[in-house]
Order: sequence, then C-alpha cells, then structure tokens
Amino acid sequence: EKDVSIGLLGLGVVGSGVIKIVEDHQEELQHQLGRGVKVEKVLVRDIEKARQIEIDHRLLTTNCEDVLANPDIDVVVEVMGGVENARKYILEALQAKKHVVTANKDLIALHGPELEETARQNGCDLFYEASVGGGIPLLRGLSDGLVSDRIQQVMGIVNGTTNYILTKMAKEGQSYEDALQKAQELGFAEADPTADVEGLDAARKMVILARLSFFTNVELEDVEVEGISKLSLTDIEYGKKLDLTMKLIGFANRHNNQIEVSVQPTFLSKSHPLASVNDEYNAVYVNGEAVGETMFYGPGAGSLPTATAVMSDVVEAIKNMLLGVNGKKFVKPRFEKELTPSDK
Ligand code: NDP
Ligand code: HSE
Repeated sequence: EKDVSIGLLGLGVVGSGVIKIVEDHQEELQHQLGRGVKVEKVLVRDIEKARQIEIDHRLLTTNCEDVLANPDIDVVVEVMGGVENARKYILEALQAKKHVVTANKDLIALHGPELEETARQNGCDLFYEASVGGGIPLLRGLSDGLVSDRIQQVMGIVNGTTNYILTKMAKEGQSYEDALQKAQELGFAEADPTADVEGLDAARKMVILARLSFFTNVELEDVEVEGISKLSLTDIEYGKKLDLTMKLIGFANRHNNQIEVSVQPTFLSKSHPLASVNDEYNAVYVNGEAVGETMFYGPGAGSLPTATAVMSDVVEAIKNMLLGVNGKKFVKPRFEKELTPSDK
C-alpha cells in the first residue's frame, strides 16, 4: 500500500518529536494502518537554522502553500504555535479537505468552536489531544472513556513549566528565575513563558477541558486566573513548615446549572495525591457522577511525550480516512449554552 503523507507546520520542540516518532516507530504505524506514514513537507521560518534533529533539507519550506495546497498531503500537523497564522493555515487546510492535528491550546481555546465547525462542514477531522496534558491521553479519556457520564468536576495540574519551577524551588531551593530558565532550555515553556507563569496556558487548557466535560462554550474571559510569578522561595518554605505543598491548580466545577473555571496557586496537604506530582508532570482528576473519581497522570510537556499525543491523532485521522468516516468525532456542533458560566 502507498504511504500516507503528512505535512508539518513547524519543526521546533514538538515538530522534531513528530519526525523522530515517524522515523523510529514506522513498524508500529505500519502495523496499525497497514501502510507507512511519511513526512512530505515541513514549514519553518528559517531553513538554514541549526536543528536538534537531522532532516533532509529538501523537505523544508518557508512557503505555507507547499503544505496546504500540496495534493499529496492528507493530514496537516500544526505545531508552530501562535494564533493568527495558525488559524489561517488550519482553516485553509480544512477547506482543502485535509485533516488537521494541532497541539495549539491558545488557538483551540480561542477559536476551537469555529475550527470544529469548519472541519464538520468539510467532512474533516480536527484533533488536538496534545493541547492539554502533553503525552497523557486525556481528551480521549474524557471524550471516549467517559462519554456516557455526567462530569461534575475536573481539577489538576495542567502546566508543566510551572510545576517544574515549583518542584525545583521546593525540593532544591532553586530560585524562580533559574528554574524558569531550565524549563525553557528543556523545551517545556511556551515561546513567551509569560503565558505559563501567569497561569494563562493553564487557563486555556481548562477552557478546553471544561468544554469537553460540560458541552458548553466556555470562553477564556470566563476563567479566573492567577499565576505563580508573585510567589517567592519564602512562601514555599513557609508552606513546607506546615507540611503544605504549593501547586498551580486548575478547577472546573459544575454546580447545578452553573459552571466555574479557575486557575490559582494552591497549598495542598502533603498527603494529597497532586502534591507528589513533580517536575513537568501533569495530573488531572475527573469526577463523574457514575464513574466516581478517576485520575490521569503523565508527562505534561516535552518533545517526545507531546509528539506521542500528536501521532495518536494522526493515526486516528488516517484510520478514519481509510474507513471513510472522518469528521464524525470530537466535533460537537451542539455548542449552544446548556450551562451558564457563573457570574464573577
Ligand atoms: P517551538 O517554538 O519550539 O517551534 C515552533 C516551530 O514553528 C519552529 O520550527 C518555527 O520555525 C515554526 N514557526 C513558528 N511560526 C512560524 C511561522 N509563522 N511560519 C513558519 N514557521 C513557523 O514550539 P513548540 O514545538 O514548543 O510548540 C509548538 C506548539 O505545540 C505550540 O502551540 C505549543 O503551545 C504546543 N505545545 C508545546 C509543548 C511543549 O512541550 N513544547 C507541549 C504541548 C503543546 P523555525 O524553526 O524556523 O524558527
Ligand atoms: N508550556 C506548556 C507547559 C507546554 O509547560 O505545560 C505543554 O502544553
């Protein structure tokens, strides 16, 4: 069988991981799909830039049309970040009947409903498993595993950078600045880490989780947000003396017909399961009326974990394509406000 071709928009931390998985896990992909997967073209800003991975330079382009208008490409993987260009390119890809996979929570939090509607109208898949929880199969867990349940609460650590910083401050006495710099070097932080440390990245992820959990169109401005940039080593040491651990926690709660979403630094008792989630790891509790309490745990950022989630979406899109059933999942066109976010 002919290989399925994918096109990448971006070749940074996540894009490099995608290339590596396509190269190293070809046997697994072949086994799942009955054919191989190959990367056809990769959009970058600078072709000459030194890269972490070896790549055939003929695959690189600075012209987005080489990916979006390429008739050989069936699935477009957006791992470039940012909002305006990413939105434009994804809309163009969907209108050209290409399936789209993205890791971009900024974009999905702001424009998810519009993009999902465009995907639905064009009979395409739009998947974004990597946008929340890095390598944790969390969105599939919510959308597939808990599909019949009525979710009451989602609560957890959804930002790897801030968890890494808080862990290094608490366990190694590192300064906030040193720990942030290390998180940037390791590729966990956003291009502009303000979004991580001010809680905005976590708020975007909580918007996505709340939408999938409560079937309502929660907006970013509905979320009460506080980050960790004002915390000092003294605050953390003070907590430690009282056996408390500081974590940045996202909450999404349903109270009767209202939902409330927030992100805030929170002291947890040391015995709380989230207190021992360290470094870039994420963990999310989901409390369903029927299932009770479930917890999802794993690496919340980084190249290969995030690329694993991206590739799970790529495989699902290709499987749907082979079955001729694209555009049937994750798309919830009944986005009318069933529940009203609580007044602040
Ligand atoms: P990077 O900054 O490492 O990489 C971005 C890549 O996109 C680079 O290759 C860059 O090109 C390219 N790029 C950016 N803008 C443009 C543009 N306008 N035109 C062409 N190419 C462009 O980002 P990450 O890989 O860390 O993140 C990518 C996405 O994944 C983001 O949405 C991020 O939020 C998300 N994400 C990241 C995670 C992580 O752990 N890093 C985890 C989960 C999600 P060039 O190389 O030439 O500069
Ligand atoms: N900057 C994000 C984080 C990347 O630190 O969690 C993963 O979404």
